[in-house]
Amino acid sequence: MLNNPSRQYWNDKGITPESHYLNRRQFIRQVAAASGAGIAGIATAQHLSAELSDKDKMYHIPYHPLSEKLYPAKRNTAYKVDRKLTPKDEVFTYNNFYEFSLDKDPHKYVEPFKPFPWELEVTGMCGKPKKWDIDELLTAFPLEERVYRFRCVETWAMTVPWTGFPLKLLIEKCEPDAKAKYVRFVSFNRPEQAVGQRDTSVYSWPYYEGVHLEEAMHPLAFVATGLYGKQLPKQSGAPLRMVFPWKYGYKGPKSVVKIELTDERPHTFWNDAMSAEYGYFSNVDPGKPHPRWSQSTERLLVTGQRVPTRLYNGYEDQLEGLHKTVYKQGNVH
Ligand code: MTE
Repeated sequence: MLNNPSRQYWNDKGITPESHYLNRRQFIRQVAAASGAGIAGIATAQHLSAELSDKDKMYHIPYHPLSEKLYPAKRNTAYKVDRKLTPKDEVFTYNNFYEFSLDKDPHKYVEPFKPFPWELEVTGMCGKPKKWDIDELLTAFPLEERVYRFRCVETWAMTVPWTGFPLKLLIEKCEPDAKAKYVRFVSFNRPEQAVGQRDTSVYSWPYYEGVHLEEAMHPLAFVATGLYGKQLPKQSGAPLRMVFPWKYGYKGPKSVVKIELTDERPHTFWNDAMSAEYGYFSNVDPGKPHPRWSQSTERLLVTGQRVPTRLYNGYEDQLEGLHKTVYKQGNVH
């Protein structure tokens, strides 16, 4: 992937290839065009600005009428991390969200993106498929806050308080068929709102991911709707994203519109794009180097401190069930 490493992929000398440079210019032109939105857009923005604080606006935290009731949710202290939270200014401005930018700055391009209203379809091999309206989903399960480690395959790492609910609760509601073995996720596809999606020459949109059903049902697997005690900012994956803290960050798709139960192992975005570099399981493993860099240490955001990477990102002792089922064949990194 991704950002600087992906530039190396395109051009080993580290020089930005012309096609990338042109794409960036195109991005900028398109963002400029989009910001000249029509009267209706301006009226909506004025309405919302009455409800949002300046800091929320700066961080692109979208307005939702239920936000004040839902956030901050009570912290579940069973999920602790033995290092400090990463400052939110960094977490909200250092992101990977290729639908908006190939660099770490998607927050500069998310303005046109509208995470509300939103619909999440849960479908496929299950007894009760359903299209969830986001308003219903936000109140269907009790929200809780969990502090998790987060490890990107590029080696940067952070510690963040997500708000949300266990993915298991949502999957149980759809009553998976006995034959369902995998869960597939699909992110939004709105080229008119996401400047990176207007350029399909590099990646094939929408973003998609997948895990085994047992992984999705694991108590650590989380649907995040909030971050730092507020609604998720747009660049962090509003209105909802998946979090699998023992896997590299790319396994957690942002701004998801579809969850599908299936008996076929799903294709995944990065594996399809560069199969030699990004596997299917993608469980964090300090002993398995990426073809272009070591995974033995990780770089903490803000301080830049390098610390040893932990197997399964420090969650190994909670994965016993998966070791007995999905991971028992080995080769899961
Ligand atoms: N989901 C979508 N839809 N698009 C993306 O580009 N990037 C992934 C993941 N989910 C990505 C995505 C990668 S590579 C990482 S590391 C994390 O989101 C980054 O999450 P963050 O920006 O909130 O830290």
